[in-house]
Order: sequence, then structure tokens, then C-alpha cells
Amino acid sequence: MREHIILIGFMGAGKSTIGRALARRLKAPFLDTDKEIESQAGASISHIFETQGEAVFREAETGLLKTLSAKGEKMVISTGGGLPLREENRRLLKRLGQVVYLQVQPDTVLKRLKGDATRPLLKGPDAREKVASLLGQRLPLYREAAHITVAVDNKRVEEIAEEILGKLKDSGGAIGQATETI
Ligand code: S3P
Repeated sequence: MREHIILIGFMGAGKSTIGRALARRLKAPFLDTDKEIESQAGASISHIFETQGEAVFREAETGLLKTLSAKGEKMVISTGGGLPLREENRRLLKRLGQVVYLQVQPDTVLKRLKGDATRPLLKGPDAREKVASLLGQRLPLYREAAHITVAVDNKRVEEIAEEILGKLKDSGGAIGQATETI
């Protein structure tokens, strides 16, 4: 397994936490696209959404993906929940490595993000409806973007990390082929 491992999925799926655990296990560097964009912009995601709008943030996501190379040291990369929405981004992700969709149920998202003020898309009332509607729209795109899917509800971080590595190993040949033909 030489390519990067990229985690995608909805807000609250645990992409950053699981990504850090995977990176520790593999002794690989870890990169979080949200953190990288915040550090490059010198502002929080909420601030970027408020002052410049979502479109500017989405451009920054694509811009960052374009700067990442499939070559070099293997990395674990966690992504913002909306990053795979653009077709261009899904293509860029597949070029970078093995894309893992962390699938989470709406109830888990609501439990984990209760009181969270850092996700502009879930701000305000009706969080349940927002999560259900966004998840419904995004599910097919996450599936399209991913090489493998791992369900995360009611599992421990280390258990999920193990499952990811096992599934990636099992599907190694197919992933290699898919990546080469892009
Ligand atoms: C977003 C998810 C967030 C962040 C931004 C937009 C989304 O990342 O990129 O608030 O569109 O789902 P997390 O998935 O890490 O919460």
C-alpha cells in the first residue's frame, strides 16, 4: 500500500480522529484539509463562510487538493464533509490514493455535534432536518468517490482503524487498477 489513505464522510463521522489513529499506526504524516485551509487563510472555517461565503471555501478545497501529490511519503488525509461534492474533487481524490468512506447514521451525527458551533452548515434550528437532507443528497456522491466504505456507528476508534486497514488490504489489487486507469 503506497498511496495515501483519504477519509471522506459526513460531519461528525470521526474523520479527523480516525485519521490521526491510522496515521499513528502507520507512522505516516497526517493532514486535515479543514485545518490546512484554516491555517493558510489565517481564519476559522466559520469566519470564512461568514465573511467570504461558502463558494470561496469550496474553491480553497479544490485548490488545496490540486497542490497535493500522489507521490512522496504516504500520508493519511482527512477531508471536510463537503469536499467530495464537486466532481472535480472526486477525480482528484481518486488520483491521490485510496478513498475510504466513513458512513455514519444521522442519530450519531446529532449526538456528536450537539451544541457544536464550528459547523456553519448545521447552525440554527432544525438540525435533524438539515442532517437528514444533506446526508440524503450526499450519500450517492460519497459512494461514488470511495473505494471502500466502513460504518462507524457504535464502534471504537481503534476498531474502525483496524477494519479500514483490513479492507484496504483485501481490495489492494482492485484499487491499484482503478487508480491507474484514471
Ligand atoms: C462541511 C464540513 C466541515 C467543514 C465545513 C463544511 C460540509 O468539515 O469542511 O464546515 O460541507 O459538510 P467536517 O466534516 O470535518 O465537519
